[in-house]
Amino acid sequence: MRNNLPIGIFDSGVGGLTVYRALHDRLPNEHFIYLGDTARVPYGTKSLATVERYALENSEFLASRGIKMLVVACNTASALALPRIRERIGIDVVGVIGPGGRKAVVSCQSTPNRPPRAIKIGVIATEATVTSNAYVEAIRRASPEAEVMQTGCPLFVPLAEEGWTTEPETFSIAERYLKPMRDFRPDALVLGCTHYPILRQVIQQTVGEGVSLIDSGEATAEEVEELLKEKGLANPNAVRVKRGLCDDLDHFYVTDAAERFANVAERFLGTKPSKLEAIEVYGGDELKQEV
Ligand code: DGL
Repeated sequence: MRNNLPIGIFDSGVGGLTVYRALHDRLPNEHFIYLGDTARVPYGTKSLATVERYALENSEFLASRGIKMLVVACNTASALALPRIRERIGIDVVGVIGPGGRKAVVSCQSTPNRPPRAIKIGVIATEATVTSNAYVEAIRRASPEAEVMQTGCPLFVPLAEEGWTTEPETFSIAERYLKPMRDFRPDALVLGCTHYPILRQVIQQTVGEGVSLIDSGEATAEEVEELLKEKGLANPNAVRVKRGLCDDLDHFYVTDAAERFANVAERFLGTKPSKLEAIEVYGGDELKQEV
């Protein structure tokens, strides 16, 4: 029965775990297959053609595992490759940019004592996502008057992959990237890369406590829940009485450095994946090692 199939999730690395956590919290009846393309991270500095190719290979790998829905838990791949993925695989696909942009607008509009001016939204993302303008378009669709400022923060990706979540070096890089954003004084700041919520504390302290940080993972989980209902695809059976993050109902794959992925997952989620395998998604032997 299709309803019992897992939901597929992919990212270039550990960043999509922020989306996995949001999906897991909101949808306790569902189970997940996660793919982190750790051999080819980062995506954010690569060309459109390359990101599209990686995204299609990841999507096909997950589709071949038997999934009922695909969540592209990577802003870069969502910004650059969503139409091609939808064209290629015959299941519903949800990206993170639309939900993140809409959530930012709603959060600004519902702020009490809002000043009588257009809302101001900051977006931090990878270079590829910034160049694509996908967030600016998503925000302007929801609020045509919105003032938007974007900044690329490429070094945040390796810092998150490394698990350097509160190191002094991370604070000094954040200060350099985010000073112009602080001066812009946004009402809300979109964490437009799924790696960035891992550095949430540093980002919040650098831009100031008054700025609300928008994590597109939570907004995406809400949209996935709606879509599952609308398509009649929700799993009707409670899969487990008490469902733990990373328990053996969820299967994790990486394309390299499984041990490193497990350590960052533990720092971020408080637990290591019980089922984690290193594989290749581009035509080589599938199974290299089990951890
Ligand atoms: N986490 C991904 C994103 O949301 C990609 C980061 C990268 O690989 O550069 O954009």
